[in-house]
Parts: sequence; C-alpha cells; structure tokens
Amino acid sequence: MNVFKKTADCVIGNYKRFEVAFEKGDGCYLYDKAGSRYLDFLAGIAVNVLGYNHPVVVDAVQEQSKKLIHVSNLYYIEEQADLACLLTKDTPLDKVFFCNSGAEANESAIKIARLYGKSEKYKIVSMKNSFHGRTMATLSATGQTKYHKGFEPMLDGFLYAEFNDFNDLKQKVDDKTVAVFFEFIQGEGGINAADRDYVEKVYDFCKAKDILFIADEVQTGTGRTGKFFAFEHYGIEPDIVTLSKALGGGIPIGAMLSKDSVAKYFTYGSHGSTFGGSPFASYVSYKVVEYVKKSGLMGRVSQLGDYFVEGLENIVKTKDSAESVSGIGLMLGLKMKSSEDADNLVKSLLEKKILVGKAGESTVRLEPPLVVEKYQIDEFLDVLRNVL
Ligand SMILES: Cc1ncc(COP(=O)(O)O)c(C=O)c1O
Repeated sequence: MNVFKKTADCVIGNYKRFEVAFEKGDGCYLYDKAGSRYLDFLAGIAVNVLGYNHPVVVDAVQEQSKKLIHVSNLYYIEEQADLACLLTKDTPLDKVFFCNSGAEANESAIKIARLYGKSEKYKIVSMKNSFHGRTMATLSATGQTKYHKGFEPMLDGFLYAEFNDFNDLKQKVDDKTVAVFFEFIQGEGGINAADRDYVEKVYDFCKAKDILFIADEVQTGTGRTGKFFAFEHYGIEPDIVTLSKALGGGIPIGAMLSKDSVAKYFTYGSHGSTFGGSPFASYVSYKVVEYVKKSGLMGRVSQLGDYFVEGLENIVKTKDSAESVSGIGLMLGLKMKSSEDADNLVKSLLEKKILVGKAGESTVRLEPPLVVEKYQIDEFLDVLRNVL
C-alpha cells in the first residue's frame, strides 16, 4: 500500500497535504522516494533552520540519544539548565519554562499572565490576524475567526485589536487587562511586520499600565529575522517571550522565557510538562542555539534576506499577479493579487520542485533554512520569474 492510501485509511484527515512524501534531506534539499530533488524554501514551516542532515543536529542527536533521552522533571537536568542559561544570556529575560510546542509555550504564557493578574486582571488583548496555536487558550488568543469555527465558545477574556493600530489597542484595554499578546511579524496571518513606531507605543503603554508584553516568537525567534529574537529589531524588552519551531532544529521543543518579576508566579506544582526540557531535546536545542548564535549565521540571514527582497521586488515590478514583498530577514512573504494567485503559485512552484507555503489570504510564504546559499536564492528567483 502506498503512503497516500495508508494515510487516507489510517490517519485522521485534518491536514490538507500535497501529493509528495520525502525520504531524506540534505542541506536545503529534500528527496522523494523516486530520487527527485526539491529545493525547500519553507523549512518544515520555519523549523529546519540548519536544513537537513546538518552535522550539528545529527551529532547532537546521536551523542545524547546514546546517553539519556528522558528522565522527567522530578530530577535536575543539566542539559535543560545549560539551555536555559544560554537562552537568557545577554537578554532581558531571566528564567525559562520548557515544553514541546509553540502552542504549549503560549499556553504557559497565558497561564502565567493569569497568575500575575491575581484573578483581578485576566483579559488578554491579541491582534486580529494573529496566530498563537490550537489549544483552547491559544486558539482563544488567535485573532482569526476561521480557526475558532466549531470550537466556540472561546475562553473568556480575549479581545482582538487591529494590527499596527495603536488607537484600537488602547480602546480594547481596560483595568482588567493583564497582557498584550504580540507577533512582531504575523506568520500564519500573512507575513505582516509590525511598524517600529507602533511597537514602541504599545510597549510604553503596557509599561505605564503594568500590562505584560508577551512576544510570541515561536516563528520569528531563533535567528529567523537576522537577530536571535525579533524584539531586538524594535528596541524593546518584552516581559515574556515564547519560542518553538526552529529552537530544536527539527526536534520538538518549546520554551517560555520571562523576567523574574513574572517567572516567580510559577511556583511548585502550578504548571508542568512531562516531556518539557528533556535531556535529549535540551541538548540538541543547545547545540542548535549555540550554532545560530556563534557561527555568524544571523549576519548571513540579514544579508541574504536583503538580497532576496531586492530580487523579489524586481520581479514584483514586472508581474501583474504579484503585489508586494513583506517581512524581515528570511521570514518573507510575497503578497499576490488574490488568494487564487497565491494557491496557483504554490502549486506551480511545487511542479518545478520548489517548496513554499501559503500564509494568510494571499501571501506566499518564503522561509528557507537559514543555511540557504545565495545561488539557491538565485535559482529560486529564476524559477519564480518564469512561473509568474
Ligand atoms: C507565531 C506562532 N505561534 C504559535 C504557533 C503554534 O505552534 P505549534 O504548531 O508548535 O503549536 C505557531 C505555529 O505556526 C506560530 O506561527
């Protein structure tokens, strides 16, 4: 039985999949069983920062899996503590809670914010078009009704403000508001970057009102934008930052980082995760984070991102179906004139053996592994020009 049939027979059908299954990967390329090579400009949806078969990830997986995979948080875990120290070093964040996914990291942020509010303040304002996850609390924080459909009622206390509209945010806040939930670049929402001036105003407003600024960096974090955290582009210091996706270089791991003033609200027994911060996930993630921070990769991301944007903008000028380019670093979006144009482009690129994704209504999402080479961007641009 082939994979398509087996999947249809035995796997719940909640994903719309492209008719391709990969067997192995190397660098920025994936290979199917027939040996066809695909250039990957989606990286497992912004996960595989170091691409495929990278020695840093492969060696770390091999080394740690031979030593110890899981022990539980009943005991001290050296690898977890090392990763926490590495993640918080030279940042405004002091402490880390580890879990296994983006939704779980955001769920932790919502829960700690509620504890911070001491039952008096509990409302959270997130942005329209945001995406924060699929658990009930993170779904409630997600400002897109299409994801809520059928799961209503959402949890109490979540409000949605227009993105990049400070006045609307102010109107949504009242004396019960405990936190603002924020993506610096809305990923699933269509690669929409926040304006610097707007972020500064929101941040100052939060500070003045003792409202927590929660940065959802599940997708923007771990170097994707050319800085380790996207908040570094905006000159602010969030109270809580969540990470996942790229954090483990493909191994599932999530993290909620916070300042001490917030971290202290998680006390013995208040929250937990069986697998969170296992020796295995922590060690692999440590090696990935160390590499991202120390290898000069993020400088490359900025340079290649600028180069990529320039190439894309030149194409946009000459093609009717393409509208504009958005994003920072290697978290980029090509906004198309219509949803259909975006769908067609994703499909046509797949036929040319290039992987990209769709985000929001009409954006084609471009998030290659951060180890992408300039010649691969050129190859992508050539194919894109022809396909459009
Ligand atoms: C910004 C953001 N937050 C949260 C999530 C949820 O992460 P996960 O799918 O790991 O639960 C995503 C996933 O796309 C995301 O992009």
